[in-house]
Amino acid sequence: MKLTIPDYIQAIEPYVPGKPIEALEREYGIQNSVKLASNENPLGPSPMALAAIRNGLTRLHRYPDGAGHLLTHKLAEACGVAPENVVIGNGSDDIIALLVRALVRPGDQVVVPQPSFLMYTITASAAGAVVESVPLKSMVMDLDAMVGRVTADTRLVFICNPNNPTGTVVTQKAFDRFMARLPDGVVVVVDEAYIEFARNADCLKTGRPSDVDRPVVTLRTFSKAYGLAGLRVGYGIMPAMLAEVLHRIRQPFNVNALAQAAAVAALDDRAFLHRTLDLVHRGLDALYAGLEGLGLTYFKSEANFFLIDVGQPADIVFENMLRQGVIVRSMRAYGFPDYIRINVGLENENRRFLEALETVLAK
Ligand SMILES: Cc1ncc(COP(=O)(O)O)c(C=O)c1O
Repeated sequence: MKLTIPDYIQAIEPYVPGKPIEALEREYGIQNSVKLASNENPLGPSPMALAAIRNGLTRLHRYPDGAGHLLTHKLAEACGVAPENVVIGNGSDDIIALLVRALVRPGDQVVVPQPSFLMYTITASAAGAVVESVPLKSMVMDLDAMVGRVTADTRLVFICNPNNPTGTVVTQKAFDRFMARLPDGVVVVVDEAYIEFARNADCLKTGRPSDVDRPVVTLRTFSKAYGLAGLRVGYGIMPAMLAEVLHRIRQPFNVNALAQAAAVAALDDRAFLHRTLDLVHRGLDALYAGLEGLGLTYFKSEANFFLIDVGQPADIVFENMLRQGVIVRSMRAYGFPDYIRINVGLENENRRFLEALETVLAK
């Protein structure tokens, strides 16, 4: 069989997701493992979302609402924008793909921070874009350097706030300076997948009514703070002109019926969101204290995950932690060969992580 694959597709390094617990337990012959590798919500899904899913099960013979009317209207109301400014997707990954497909032709330029969420580079590369990676400065996205790399060929700039994997944020002031220098014709995507967790009062937050009058797209997701990663639902807030283009090219039923119902219910489940934020904030502080006790360097974060310098190859620490039944993420693929990333777990999971790390590093 002969396949003709474009060079720019051949060159893509595959995204390596955190493996499911079941697969790792099978491979390593372990049980009752703790997964802290994919920035998921350790509390599980919102109970109100679960009830909505149960309710929706008997209607699975029907197609979903292709316009996502209820969810779109609820999100618009929550953000103070018009429903015409909202596009829902099969995870925020779907919106990233739609934006790239709508705006980027082969040879166009896309500016991304480095390191950051790998899907920006993968998706842009798959469209034949030239990806300009701009290094972080002291772990923080360098918006001045990023806007400095914008050329006449640039179509998109990705900002990840808080940034995955560093957990650092950009300020409103830095963003305003960036926007003032941004030439016409460039769309800025601010990925706020973890924004709910940010405690820093100076942290930029977009998706407000004033943002939809300029070329700014805010991405949010139900995968993290709302605990619905397995359902796949995310959304973008953007100028109506751009939303209209995305609606033309998206799949007609890109968000399934259960995901829509669950997301609507999750938005009303304020108690669950509250519990999640409380757990993550207390967990972060307890983990920081535990790591200080072990004499390890870590990087304070505004998200539900953070980086730890383990002072030796992270791939080896990852393997040895697995044998202790704790799944972490090696940051080698992100350019930090000695760092691991973990997300906050339940209290007992955090304790198990600290104990396992102490055992592994003592070897
Ligand atoms: C920064 C960032 N953006 C987007 C996503 C994708 O989220 P979703 O599950 O909504 O596709 C992730 C997932 O890990 C992420 O870390």
